[in-house]
Amino acid sequence: MHLALLAAGIGPGDQVITTAHTFIATAEPISHAGAMPVFVDIDPQTYNIDPNRVEDAITPRTKAILPVHLYGQPALLGPLREIASRYKVWLIEDAAQAVGAEYQGRRCGAIGDLACFSFYPGKNLGAYGDAGAVTGNDESLLAKVAKLRDHGRTTKYEHDEIGFGERMDALQAAILRAKLPHLEDWTKARRAHARLYNELLADCDVVTPFESPDVRHVYHLYVIRTSRRVAMLEHLQSKGIGAGIHYPIPLHRQPAYLKQGYGDVSLPVTERVAGEIVSLPMYPELTREQIEYVASAVREVAG
Ligand SMILES: Cc1ncc(COP(=O)(O)O)c(C=O)c1O
Repeated sequence: MHLALLAAGIGPGDQVITTAHTFIATAEPISHAGAMPVFVDIDPQTYNIDPNRVEDAITPRTKAILPVHLYGQPALLGPLREIASRYKVWLIEDAAQAVGAEYQGRRCGAIGDLACFSFYPGKNLGAYGDAGAVTGNDESLLAKVAKLRDHGRTTKYEHDEIGFGERMDALQAAILRAKLPHLEDWTKARRAHARLYNELLADCDVVTPFESPDVRHVYHLYVIRTSRRVAMLEHLQSKGIGAGIHYPIPLHRQPAYLKQGYGDVSLPVTERVAGEIVSLPMYPELTREQIEYVASAVREVAG
């Protein structure tokens, strides 16, 4: 993502509109490029950036909109694309959690000017170490990313940019290549598990994930909301169930960003959601019995 932002010419003095309800790796590269992340509140159903609030955040310094397809659900790329085109700013997708996801029948990573994927081991398509990829629609931007990735080289020992050593390790590439043909089956399994969780939790007092009708959600995470989070986490832990919180502290409340002067930023939806979310176990190999066990443990707290 750092290389994508640099390739798009983003640098000191620029602003990039994004979400605070995400992993810090969404904002870090904006800061490393010397630009300023501008956090916009999320939609309360999808937990993704709310396109209705994006336009108000645009200033003459805005250079890009950077939505995150959080938990594997595509952000509303149609309205975001329209706003980006109207204001002539880049649309760069954080698709780290969304390999295989679709928006109106088109793959995430094929709609923005650039899109960034993560193959961190815990991702839907995970390497055995760190790896990632950038895709996009703009050939010149992609060529620039490729050059920056490989020391700015034009030939073996000729360099016309000051680049980086950010090539994917060949060993990781080999592992990803072996795993890639299975991705579709794994995605189908995740989606089936989500449907089963939804059924089993339908009439209990938790909010199950909303799946927007024109997307294909790939359920990197299955995240519910509960007003009884502390009790829920304790109970799940006591039953041997690994539950998590993605993410407990929104980026504008992180010490790293408070130091940068974000103390006055208020994002009410983000802050409320961050206090209620619980991620239940989600991976392709889950069995029906395991999902039933988790769902009944959730019901014991939520009623
Ligand atoms: C939403 C999001 N963006 C960016 C990243 C960064 O990916 P990586 O760890 O491969 O740099 C991650 C995961 O780590 C993520 O979940």
